[in-house]
Amino acid sequence: MHYGEALGARDEKGFFALLDKMAAEIKKRDEIVVVHHYDADGISSGAITIKALEREGKKVSHICLKQLYKENISEIRALGKNYLFVDFGSGQMDYLLKEFDGHLFIIDHHQPVMHEGKPLELKWHANPLLFGINGGTELSGAGAAFFFAMALNKNNADLSQLAIVGALGDMQDNNSGSALVGLNRKIIEIAQEAKVVIVKKDLALYGRISRPLVSYLAYSSNPIIPELTANEDNCKAFLAEIGIPLKDPFTEQWLSYEDLSEEEKKIFSTALITHMISVGVEEWKIKQLIGETYAFTKEAKKSPLRDGKEFATALNACGRHKKPEIGLAICLGDRNPAGKFGEAVAMLEEHRTALRRGIEFVNQHGIDERKSFYFFDAADQIEESLVGIIAGMLYGSVIDENKPIIALARNNDGTMKVSGRGTAILVRRGLNIGKALKEIGTEIEGVEGGGHKVAAGARVPAEKIDEFLLLLGKKFEEQLFRV
Ligand code: C5P
Ligand code: C5P
Ligand code: ZN
Repeated sequence: MHYGEALGARDEKGFFALLDKMAAEIKKRDEIVVVHHYDADGISSGAITIKALEREGKKVSHICLKQLYKENISEIRALGKNYLFVDFGSGQMDYLLKEFDGHLFIIDHHQPVMHEGKPLELKWHANPLLFGINGGTELSGAGAAFFFAMALNKNNADLSQLAIVGALGDMQDNNSGSALVGLNRKIIEIAQEAKVVIVKKDLALYGRISRPLVSYLAYSSNPIIPELTANEDNCKAFLAEIGIPLKDPFTEQWLSYEDLSEEEKKIFSTALITHMISVGVEEWKIKQLIGETYAFTKEAKKSPLRDGKEFATALNACGRHKKPEIGLAICLGDRNPAGKFGEAVAMLEEHRTALRRGIEFVNQHGIDERKSFYFFDAADQIEESLVGIIAGMLYGSVIDENKPIIALARNNDGTMKVSGRGTAILVRRGLNIGKALKEIGTEIEGVEGGGHKVAAGARVPAEKIDEFLLLLGKKFEEQLFRV
């Protein structure tokens, strides 16, 4: 058994049986503190558990954290007696066990803390990885929380919407079919049965509902469309040539992709594919244009929350810009344009601007290519909460898929924030960034980190950063070149 690999044979039954037992145990407790992470998956996980527990008549308090560190313990303890950690906890079990044992419940999909080749023992630890289920690609924190909610009560099927949002936030559809797979598929089936989602193969560029057609094309980054990405004039000419109007002739409103008729959508996507072929883009990249899309039936037609990916981005926008409570409120149902929903829409705009600025900063300052990873230091120019997203966005444009990327930013307390991102191809070759960071945590005093194989992060004392990068480079060489 290796750290971070599937920890044992696949045992879906065992996973669901544990969730059933955990639900029965939690039903015996009156009040519960939900502790959750601040990104899209973390906020969805928090909302699912809070809602499901409240429906059971429990007294629920909650706290959202940017990252779970030892110094957060006293704040968490002050909130109650029973503690349910969602979308983190597995990677911090060593000290959570000491602090909360007997009152500790974890629902997570991050790689767990290991001791002598085995995960640490905790009775109430629902992590798909412990049952041979891939927590990086087929079940998110929100997905695991959703199955827990279903174990509490089968009437929670409506919460499947948030489980889909969590999986998309963690980019679990990042595979050759651009579709949610594995246990996420079960969630889709439940969501379809509950009539909360419509699943369709379609043009899968980001912004199909909320972006006017020209920006929809011009901001495309996954895949990059030569001559169109970042060139609004060419996008306008392209749309004119294929006869797609930019505005609704009656209302004068900008049209989005979703506003087009089925016929127009077909013309649009066919023209895009033909364009990609004619400028010589490889077939596998062209395939990324088409993917599964998830439209939520309960959301208004033009709302950014109608599309699964845009909903996830709205949550990331709130959480990563220090307003997770706005994200939580929209997950819990706020749709008031003058309330939290309106604020979330405004946060989306702020988020887009921040990401654009971040990418510009990296393009201006350049990226170092080291032996086993790409590297850039954002200094204090990019928020530490955004630097990982920006690093991930560089694949497909300025960096190749042959090495992971490591980005540095500054935490408020003067320590360094490290974010690492990779690709599915690298993971197949052996990349496990979360494992590398967790190991370094035991080898360099003061380093705390972890995460997934493909996306992970750490906090590093500033004076140790060179030592840290050297060691990380060696670990990547071992993982990728097997030296
Ligand atoms: O803590 P959590 O599991 O929710 O966070 C995982 C993070 O990794 C997400 O913020 C997601 O955006 C990021 N990720 C990524 N690239 C992937 C998979 C996940 O940037 N291929
Ligand atoms: O912050 P960032 O988006 O780079 O985080 C990527 C992944 O690494 C997340 O799943 C997060 O929970 C994890 N992480 C961690 N410990 C840290 C920082 C990030 O486990 N100190
Ligand atoms: Zn997650």
